[in-house]
Amino acid sequence: MKIGIIGAGMIGGTLGPLWLKAGHEVRYGTRHPEQVQVPGAGSDTVAAVGQWAEVLAIAIPLGATPEVAQALGSSVQGKVVLDTGNLIAGKEPTDAAAVAKSGGSGVWVASHLPGAHVVKAFNTVYFKILQSQSGRTDGPQLGIPLAGDDAAALDTAQGLVRDAGFEPVVFGALSQAIHFENGTPVWNTGASAEALRRYLSEVRA
Ligand SMILES: NC(=O)c1ccc[n+]([C@@H]2O[C@H](COP(=O)([O-])OP(=O)(O)OC[C@H]3O[C@@H](n4cnc5c(N)ncnc54)[C@H](OP(=O)(O)O)[C@@H]3O)[C@@H](O)[C@H]2O)c1
Repeated sequence: MKIGIIGAGMIGGTLGPLWLKAGHEVRYGTRHPEQVQVPGAGSDTVAAVGQWAEVLAIAIPLGATPEVAQALGSSVQGKVVLDTGNLIAGKEPTDAAAVAKSGGSGVWVASHLPGAHVVKAFNTVYFKILQSQSGRTDGPQLGIPLAGDDAAALDTAQGLVRDAGFEPVVFGALSQAIHFENGTPVWNTGASAEALRRYLSEVRA
């Protein structure tokens, strides 16, 4: 697939090589395309990558979402958009109360991207763990929780999680992403897919 990654920092810079290794095409959309140094990946403006991509992954500070959404414009219409963002208290975004009120960061991000099929993904795992644990062979696969409102988009997201070397665990609608946001028991724990499924059944009980 043609995967556009918005943001080439810790999380964006980690996911790109994993997807390139799986045979996908990757381009980074950033404010400084000339500074992107990911072998095999292209780079361009956010707007141009939004147009080019079949699937987008947004890997920017949550607070930059409105600005990036404006740059992406209508290019996101009908596309799967993976949202990797976290609400980090005191850091981003400035209007944390609005994020909480809207029903969590996934729903809040989606509210800025009308027409996109947003799936919360890859927000729970520290980038260095993603780098070292992709395709783990000495134990159960690392689990990546997903939440989204569109069944086909969730299918695509699950495929991209597997291609990156992890096992997806679907929590349900986008609003269910609140169960794996910053501050929940499964955030930044390196939980296996099996552990995530156990946690999900507790959440549902
Ligand atoms: N780090 C992790 O281990 C990790 C793991 C899971 C999820 N996350 C989440 O992923 C998101 C990104 O975190 P990160 O650690 O990757 O951050 P980071 O290393 O600081 O990278 C952020 C990227 O966003 C770009 N950016 C910032 N503001 C922008 C704007 N207005 N328009 C376009 N690009 C902009 C930055 O580019 P410039 O050079 O232009 O500033 C940079 O490439 C956060 O929500 C974080 O909570 C992080």
